[in-house]
Amino acid sequence: MSRKKVIAANWKMFKTPAQAQEFVTSFLPLVVGHDRDEIVVCPSDTSLSVVIAAATGSNVAVGAQNMYFADEGAFTGETSPVMLKAIGATHVILGHSERRQYFGETDETVNKKLLAALKHELKPIVCIGEVLAEREGGKTEEVLLRQTHKAFTGVTAEQAETMVIAYEPVWAIGTGKTATPQMAAEAHAIVRGEIAKLLGEPAAKAMRILYGGSVKPENASALMAESEIDGALVGGASLDPQSFAKIVKY
Ligand code: 13P
Repeated sequence: MSRKKVIAANWKMFKTPAQAQEFVTSFLPLVVGHDRDEIVVCPSDTSLSVVIAAATGSNVAVGAQNMYFADEGAFTGETSPVMLKAIGATHVILGHSERRQYFGETDETVNKKLLAALKHELKPIVCIGEVLAEREGGKTEEVLLRQTHKAFTGVTAEQAETMVIAYEPVWAIGTGKTATPQMAAEAHAIVRGEIAKLLGEPAAKAMRILYGGSVKPENASALMAESEIDGALVGGASLDPQSFAKIVKY
């Protein structure tokens, strides 16, 4: 069974609404008619509405980079799944390593957020990945199994079909160091095996597992050639429309 690849942009804390609008204006003509892959752009919350308006009716979906798990409440500074849905966001990145590293995100909060996203029919892109010390200490498999197991607790096999996982080895993010296609494929196979155990073989076969970490126009095609790699989550190289379009068209 062949899985449609997802090429997603994570802009992180870059771009004002005007800059985001400018990106979409330049980017859409570069990918018009491209339906081989799903294309998702994830701006910061302040640019979501602008990007959604600019991309409506196109082949580009729009997602948030984070959300809280409650529908509403006294949670200063947070954004809820209800709010994201209301403005027309379709996707949400959850558990990015920068959220885990700098903002106290844990396997438990990622799980709560995942269940909330599914409840509100937002398509989650759940990030997992080992840090350098874990890779060097031979702990990669253990970390991936733990993160996968905890994130997906309570998820049903049916829900799993819309979910996307992003394997992002933390040592490869923003460093210019990319995991080799073989390293990424190996990690993806470990994660898919755990999903099969948790949610069954059909769910594991349907689930898209993206690779993230220094994906560039130059290395995208080698990574995408691996049958285990179902797309990319791109940081730095997604900020420029030409560069991101090249990755989309690997
Ligand atoms: P870079 O592509 O800049 O390494 O970032 C990867 C990433 O964290 C995407 O979520």
